Amino acid sequence: MILVTGGAGFIGANFVLDWLALNDEPVINLDKLTYAGNTESLQSLEQDARHTLVQGDIGDRALVSALLARHQIRAVVNFAAESHVDRSIHGPGEFIQTNIVGTFNLLESVRGYWQGLSQAPKEAFRFLHVSTDEVYGSLAKDDPAFTESNHLEPNSPYSASKAASDHLVRAWHHTYGLPVLTTNCSNNYGPYHFPEKLIPLMIVNALAGKLLPVYGDGLQIRDWLYVKDHCSAIRRVLEAGRLGETYNVGGWNEKANLEIVHTVCHLLDELRPRADGKPYQDQITSVTDRPGHDRRYAIDARKLERELGWKPLETFESGIRKTVQWYLDNPDWVAHVQSGAYRQWVQKQYHSGG
Ligand code: NAD
Ligand code: TYD
Repeated sequence: MILVTGGAGFIGANFVLDWLALNDEPVINLDKLTYAGNTESLQSLEQDARHTLVQGDIGDRALVSALLARHQIRAVVNFAAESHVDRSIHGPGEFIQTNIVGTFNLLESVRGYWQGLSQAPKEAFRFLHVSTDEVYGSLAKDDPAFTESNHLEPNSPYSASKAASDHLVRAWHHTYGLPVLTTNCSNNYGPYHFPEKLIPLMIVNALAGKLLPVYGDGLQIRDWLYVKDHCSAIRRVLEAGRLGETYNVGGWNEKANLEIVHTVCHLLDELRPRADGKPYQDQITSVTDRPGHDRRYAIDARKLERELGWKPLETFESGIRKTVQWYLDNPDWVAHVQSGAYRQWVQKQYHSGG
């Protein structure tokens, strides 16, 4: 059995759904169910005995230790985190608490359990830490993409807290021998993505006839990967990654934000044209830039490709089309995540009604 943390969030939920679609190994899903955790993303597993959702904090050592022992966990995949850069700028405290202190407590619970295992399960045990390319900092236009040997130079409270957690995971391997693996992935997009992040926000705002807020000049570059390709990379690293190593995950898909927004608009023009026949791009508006906004991220994923034979299945064109279609097909999921807490965030960040 495996323990997934943060499995009610965007990537975690996709991971759990894919995992159980591919094999029968049960999943204990530990999630605090913050604003970002959504049980509706896991609705198809409601009657599935292979999935158990436990509401709780990765920092709760008694709870985590009990779950590990009771279910004889063979691997932990740690997705749990505060994940939104803009929120980390408004309030970094939760990021320090969950991403750093929480990861520390999780590592300690896991270490205690792992040290008590007998030889065979001890050797087979894995702790996989899911991290981000944002820990590497920002690239200039012509810099080569981030490799695993880049220094960590995080610039936002979010990325700094993730970098700190990456360091802790590394240290627990070097000092205590804990069998860890770390993945550093680029920006994900796909189903069940909370509409505070760029792509889902643009889709839901466009459909609601609202403005599409692009920060600054919109020429910041991100490297985009379809979420299911990230999940397949995590499965592969869990299965065959070398202990103590980090693996970059990315789709060789660098795009400027404005290009992303225009692509979303064009797809919506095709799939759900505006009632007045005008293009959705008329809704694009430039807003104040994010403080400390990283200009460019780009991931060199050749280590993962070379050592473990991983390749993404989706191109950006196929993945973004699937994503837009998913949001069109799932208006109830969207309506339900736009709760009071969501509206408050939109009000605070964009100074407009939800
Ligand atoms: P998310 O914000 O959608 O989900 C995070 C989940 O963690 C939520 O379900 C939340 O309830 C849960 N959680 C938060 N604090 C917790 C705690 N203390 N204990 C237990 N559960 C807690 O995030 P996401 O986009 O799915 O990202 C998942 C992981 O992947 C994060 O670690 C993030 O840093 C990393 N990552 C994200 C991206 C991306 O583009 N979204 C890219 C690379 C890496
Ligand atoms: P985001 O989805 O928050 O991911 P990250 O900051 O982790 O890369 O943002 C992606 C890019 O889109 C980033 O450069 C900020 C920009 N952005 C906007 O221009 N407008 C928005 O409303 C949001 C949420 C993001």
